Amino acid sequence: MYEQRCAVCHGPQGRGDGPEAPFLSPRPGSLISAATSVKSDADLLAVITNGKPRTAMPAWKDQLTDEQRQDVLAYIRTLVRFYKPPLQQPQDEQP
Ligand code: HEC
Repeated sequence: MYEQRCAVCHGPQGRGDGPEAPFLSPRPGSLISAATSVKSDADLLAVITNGKPRTAMPAWKDQLTDEQRQDVLAYIRTLVRFYKPPLQQPQDEQP
C-alpha cells in the first residue's frame, strides 16, 4: 500500500526522495526524520487522513479505510526502525 500510494512522493524508504518529489513545493518531508518520528500517532494519522494544507500531501480519508491508514502509519514507523540514518549505524559490521 505504501509503495503504491505514498512512495512516489515520500520515497521507497520514506526519505522524501520519491520520483515526484523534485516537482513539489514544498518538498515532501522525510518520514524517518526526527521531526516526524517524535510526532504522535494521532498527529500523523490526522495528516494522513486530512492531508496537509498548502502542501501536495493529499487527504486519504476517501481512499483508505481507518484500518488502512493505521496500517500505513505502522509501516512508516517500521521504516524508522529498519533504515537508520548512516551516522547511527554501527561501524563494526565488516569482518
Ligand atoms: C503527491 C505527493 C504525496 C503523496 C502521494 C503522499 N504524500 Fe505525504 N506529504 C507530502 C508533502 C508535500 C508533505 C508535507 C511536507 C512535510 O510535512 O513533510 C507530506 C507530509 C506527510 C506527513 C506528515 C509528516 C510530518 O512530519 O508532519 C505524513 C505522516 C505523510 N505525508 C504520510 C503519507 C502517507 C502515509 C502517504 C500514502 C498514503 C502519503 N503521505 C502520500 C506529499 C505526499
